[in-house]
Amino acid sequence: MSHDAPLVIVLAAGLGTRMKSDTAKVLHQVAGRPLVIWPVELARQIGARKIVVVLGHQREQVAAVLAKRFGDGAVTIAVQAEQRGTGHAVAQALPALAGEPDASRVVILSGDVPLLGRETVDALLAAQANRALAVVTTHPPEARGYGRIVRDDAGYVQRIVEEKDASATEKQIAEVNAGIYSVALGFLREGVGALEPNNAQHELYLTDLVARAALRGEAATVQAPWDDVAGVNDRVELARLDGIARRRIAERWMRDGVTMKHPDTVSIDADVAAIGKDSELGARVELRGRVTIGAGVKVDTGCVITDATIGDGALVKPYCVIAESSVGARAQLGPFAHLRPGSELAEEVHVGNFVETKKARLGKGSKANHLSYLGDAVIGAKVNVGAGTITCNYDGVNKFVTTIEDGVFIGSDTQLVAPVTVGKEAYVGAGATITEDVPAGALAITRAPLVIKEGYVAKKREKQKQQKKP
Ligand code: UD1
Ligand code: MG
Repeated sequence: MSHDAPLVIVLAAGLGTRMKSDTAKVLHQVAGRPLVIWPVELARQIGARKIVVVLGHQREQVAAVLAKRFGDGAVTIAVQAEQRGTGHAVAQALPALAGEPDASRVVILSGDVPLLGRETVDALLAAQANRALAVVTTHPPEARGYGRIVRDDAGYVQRIVEEKDASATEKQIAEVNAGIYSVALGFLREGVGALEPNNAQHELYLTDLVARAALRGEAATVQAPWDDVAGVNDRVELARLDGIARRRIAERWMRDGVTMKHPDTVSIDADVAAIGKDSELGARVELRGRVTIGAGVKVDTGCVITDATIGDGALVKPYCVIAESSVGARAQLGPFAHLRPGSELAEEVHVGNFVETKKARLGKGSKANHLSYLGDAVIGAKVNVGAGTITCNYDGVNKFVTTIEDGVFIGSDTQLVAPVTVGKEAYVGAGATITEDVPAGALAITRAPLVIKEGYVAKKREKQKQQKKP
């Protein structure tokens, strides 16, 4: 962080009335990230020397989300208890910048504008150069509601006029204020201190600083595409920006060597950390939260993977659900496998259809191919878990561990009543209910002996015929 690295203020105190939500607007998500996270991530990308986030509505919840992601103290919170306008919001952030030199530059971002990119901020800083202020402008499909950019005959920006204060002619202006600025700190202090609520909304307008800078011949503008600077005001706009974000994310991964069969249906969160080269994502695959996928992995149709790691060359067949788990290299899952939190599958493990695992470790090459529940289980290498096997891990009050050592063969339809251990290379016959430890190398059977009565059906019919006769 160099000394001329910018300071950043993120305005996020607004109510977000049009979201019609009990949740603060800036906690609604785009591509799996709360809105407020986006400008803070951008601030970090540009190497901000200090980041001040102005919060009001639900400030405790929003501050908690910021602290959880960035750690305590990475972001300074300023409080604007009453929302008296964007200028008033910036005024609340200034005390946090008290020790900073007047010549510093302050980039002001909006908490509800998620898709702003580094290029636009770099262009903004370049346009400002040594001037008092620069502002990002844009041309939305519908200018109504936004502050209009008023220029003089020579094309220089003169001021910004808000919708509610605009004349009929000014309302015709299609170029609007995107609400993103870079301002010299000395000028910001002086300008914000001089703001007055002389407007239709009786608010302190940050936009009044543009006229002040223009009077000195020190106001610059930079244009950005609408999609990059669009803000979220309601859930329709939220969904639109979410769609744009996801399309951009999918395209980035495809350019990095990931194949997608139906990219429009694939949904990849912004925080997905890696998808290796030559991996393939089928239709309607969702990668949520922090997911890491190795190289040459195939994730087939309809899988939902959340906060999980998948090793190189793994094959995830259709409709698997995987959460907070890790899958080793060349493992095979599904179709319809369900890995719940704490599942750790080593290399070459096979977990097949309708198998549910939870807090279960499976060693290298072990297989549970059909219809099982494996919970609180420690399973060694090269174990075969037969179809329909169930770990009975819960007695209604406590959870217990099932241990199955290397090379064990568990016959189909077995119940393992935990706590219980099946020793190395032991065999458990099909249909067993195992309630005690099975020593290594032993065979355990709990089946009732088989009885065969030859000719039983014919004899029974004869007897029934006799009874029927009057
Ligand atoms: C503001 C601009 C307008 C611009 C528009 C772009 C002013 C006066 N007007 O409009 O020119 O076209 O943004 O979206 O600045 N906020 C606070 N505290 C407040 C008020 C707002 O923190 O008291 C925050 C909001 O949470 C939001 C941002 O500032 O993140 C913009 O507020 P919003 O109410 O959406 O913008 P307007 O004032 O309508
Ligand atoms: Mg807005």
